[in-house]
Amino acid sequence: MKNDWWKECVVYQIYPQSFMDSNGDGIGDFNGIIQKLDYLKDLGVDVLWICPMYASPLIDNGYDISDYYSVNPIFGTNKDMESLIEETNKRNIKIILDLVVNHCSNQHEWFQKAIKNPKCEEADYFYFRTTEDDQEPNNWRSNFGGSVWSRLSDGRWYYHTFAKEQPDLNWECKKLREKIYKMINWWLEKGIAGFRIDAITFIKKDLSFSSRSMKDCERYPVENLTDYPGIGVFLDEMKERCFEKYNCMTVAEAPGVDNQAFERYAGKNGYFSMIFDFGWENMEDEKDKSSIDAIERWKRKIFKNVSNNSKIGWSAIFLENHDQSRCVNKFLEKENINFYSASALASIYFYLYGTPFVYQGQEIGMTNVEWKDINDMEDVRAKRTYQEAVEQGKDPQEMLAYFSELGRDNARTPMQWTSGKNGGFSESDPWIKCNDNYTVINVENQIKDTNSLYHYYKSLIQYHHKHTELLKKGLFKPVLEEYPGLIAYERSYGSQKLTVVVNFTNSQMKISKMTQKCVLCNYKNGETAQMQPYEARIYYRE
Ligand code: GLC
Ligand code: CA
Repeated sequence: MKNDWWKECVVYQIYPQSFMDSNGDGIGDFNGIIQKLDYLKDLGVDVLWICPMYASPLIDNGYDISDYYSVNPIFGTNKDMESLIEETNKRNIKIILDLVVNHCSNQHEWFQKAIKNPKCEEADYFYFRTTEDDQEPNNWRSNFGGSVWSRLSDGRWYYHTFAKEQPDLNWECKKLREKIYKMINWWLEKGIAGFRIDAITFIKKDLSFSSRSMKDCERYPVENLTDYPGIGVFLDEMKERCFEKYNCMTVAEAPGVDNQAFERYAGKNGYFSMIFDFGWENMEDEKDKSSIDAIERWKRKIFKNVSNNSKIGWSAIFLENHDQSRCVNKFLEKENINFYSASALASIYFYLYGTPFVYQGQEIGMTNVEWKDINDMEDVRAKRTYQEAVEQGKDPQEMLAYFSELGRDNARTPMQWTSGKNGGFSESDPWIKCNDNYTVINVENQIKDTNSLYHYYKSLIQYHHKHTELLKKGLFKPVLEEYPGLIAYERSYGSQKLTVVVNFTNSQMKISKMTQKCVLCNYKNGETAQMQPYEARIYYRE
């Protein structure tokens, strides 16, 4: 197997709760995934990233692990998980798992021991502090609202980057690190091909834990405390002790890693095979996403990041994941969402540079939900920030409107397989409500319709596999920059050239005639100088 095999892959992300329910309890499971492996094979993906399926009280939907060695029984047994690995590998598809080691669940045996006995070994696996004035040790604000510190009944404070049920692990403790490495290798021995590594830039803390000055908010956001000096010692060690030995694929969620730090993380000798490129993840600040100015700003962000990163390392490129809203909603005004604009989006990112990731349902254009009641929502972040905001006097309707735009639950509604009951996901009421539009947007319809988004993604994946050398090594260069609203770039390697030209506006556009051959287009023509609204063309020349 090649050292950089993962550069040739297309990855598909599965959120196991919402993918496919095989036993009618309303929750997706391992056997459900097995049932759909042929679908995934047919789509053409090479690697599945499975979101946390470990034992967990599910406060943060599995990102709060109570036992790293067992699976959560809601998904099946450890044996079922093994069958999933086996069945997947049989089809020549690999599996990567989520590795969540910045924190664990407060139900984990380690934390339980540590709260009972401040002197035990496990007490050193976490960050405990006491204060003279009984106040929190500092003014840092956790990612999910409130302080990063919560208090035990004996007066000790413990640190959590996320929810209070997710205490941070103390990476300074060598014994703990050894336990983590042992666990990683145990899973690698089971035949998985690597990991998506959660929130990893938080593992090194500023141990002075001193308060930061704040202007207009009383707490300092912990998001600003990532990639802290010294983190490399831990990351290099983990790479050497685990990842390197198995030649596995590692993709890190590494918030706070800017263009400058990119090389340390995802360069040739980086800590990981790749990191997610969060540099152009949404158009959150834009009032009108369809305006030429907004499109141009987004385009510049994409090109800036890709031009930088493609020279020094490897990225994971994506439009969606389980923490974000659906890409059609993120990058388009509602009235512009259709097959053409969704396939245009897909064309823009797929060949940029790096390994493309597709999130479940993205390939059929699943959309956001209009959340009308906070009780319909499941996301801990939404629920807690809602509560905090309402307590501070914010308008609840405004909060719901915000979640309908940007909430994490938009990506977590059940996969829409058919137009039947619950979108064919489950016989019974699903754990989170379905998006009503499953009657129209679903896999069954799109497989039948050869002009659907599903088939378009399938073609993009096929071309990706056809041109692996070019996409692995080819230079990236923006082109046709003089056309506002047009997003176009080329990838070239030797005499091969692949050019992506997308009119990302809702009006027609005239461009200069291209001399290469159009190999894929979301409209019927593809050759004329006149481009239709959201027309996307892929050209190729040998
Ligand atoms: C990452 C995950 C997110 C989770 C958080 C805490 O950001 O993607 O879903 O809530 O880490 O583990
Ligand atoms: Ca189930």
